[in-house]
Amino acid sequence: MPASPADCRQTEVCDRPRQIEAAIAPLFEPFTVNGLTLPNRIAMAPMGRHFSRDGRPSDDYVAYYARRAAGGVGLVTSEATPVPHPAAAHAPTYSAYHGEGPLSVWGRVPAAVQGAGGKYMQQLFHVGGLRRAGDLPHPDAPAVSPSGLYQPATGTGEPPQLNGRPATESELADVVTAFGQAAADAQRLGCDGVNLHAAHGYLLDQFLWPTLNRREDGHGRAHPTRLAEEVVREVRRRVGPAFPIFLRISQWKQQDYAARLWEEPKALEAFLRPLIDAGVDLFDCSTRRFWTPEFQGSDLNLAGWVKKLSGVPTMTVGSVGLDRDLFEAGVRRPEADDGPSPNTGGLGDFAGPASLDRVVAMLERSDFDLVAVGRALISNPNWANDIRAGATDRIRAFEKVHLASLE
Ligand SMILES: Cc1cc2nc3c(=O)[nH]c(=O)nc-3n(C[C@H](O)[C@H](O)[C@H](O)COP(=O)(O)O)c2cc1C
Repeated sequence: MPASPADCRQTEVCDRPRQIEAAIAPLFEPFTVNGLTLPNRIAMAPMGRHFSRDGRPSDDYVAYYARRAAGGVGLVTSEATPVPHPAAAHAPTYSAYHGEGPLSVWGRVPAAVQGAGGKYMQQLFHVGGLRRAGDLPHPDAPAVSPSGLYQPATGTGEPPQLNGRPATESELADVVTAFGQAAADAQRLGCDGVNLHAAHGYLLDQFLWPTLNRREDGHGRAHPTRLAEEVVREVRRRVGPAFPIFLRISQWKQQDYAARLWEEPKALEAFLRPLIDAGVDLFDCSTRRFWTPEFQGSDLNLAGWVKKLSGVPTMTVGSVGLDRDLFEAGVRRPEADDGPSPNTGGLGDFAGPASLDRVVAMLERSDFDLVAVGRALISNPNWANDIRAGATDRIRAFEKVHLASLE
């Protein structure tokens, strides 16, 4: 990304800032999707921060998201927020996207982000079968899942366990309605679009994944996209044609990092078509390392393949600007102190800054349209402006302790 000292020696006057800006210029081109023009290609990835009490987000969220827009991010995405359904969350620290209290905070975020120069989307989700009996905030609500199965955390090697019963058709219809309601609220509260979470092993993804979907009915393995299609169609019905709908998808699951829904491009192509017909405007393709080829015989990543197979815009994500992926065993810097370590599951402790050359080259080649950045933006609210200015010395490594505050 930045010009090397050798490059500088070759020019009579070393204009380093201008060279840097030229090298990463593709990241700062505007992009339009379904009528929404984003000022650049950098998006803040959805990241659950769990600064909420009884489902109401901390007031500090408003400034937290606006700070990333002021720091140059073109599209800010909220953390995953549960839709209005009693079994949508499995902990009270999730910030609900329903109810007067939570919406009074979430409702202030879009204008704050837009006032700082960015666009804003709400991520909507339902945890499905990740719920255990008695989980807050609604301990009596039965989990909604394809087949009543719960997959233990990665690495335990245990087969799926029973965690309830398969959801009934009327329970699934309630979930669909809940997504539609949340999307309508997002539009009413000034969001620029919604990001529907169908990745990482949450409810919509549980239906896509044969390990957890053993149903034989219309929502079963013969038609695994059906629930996601119904959700997208209902959201589209509620928000109208001119409101962007992003769908987040992934091969990996939090229950199994090595899971794969699509072993070859044909399977991926068949998966995409009904979702596009239902109303998806852009696929947010979640991977842990953006540079990993998705299928043999090509260096395209998941976002690259989705765009090639469907012609629909895509967003990439995964270790952009960082040298370690989300779950890679973090090697702490020797001088790092042992500050409070929030409970963040298998998340690695530490990831250092890395070159942007490769992601920019892939963007320039039109592999994908947007580039989402996660952890680097937690540690560096001004990341986008800093990389644009070549101020790489100002960019901090990601350390898990940074999650302890909503800076
Ligand atoms: C603390 C944390 C919370 C996350 N929460 C969410 C979430 O709420 N929704 C989601 O789709 N992904 C979530 N992710 C995944 C990120 O959106 C992103 O895909 C991942 O961190 C990889 O990007 P990165 O390598 O740039 O961090 C989370 C990641 C982190 C680090």
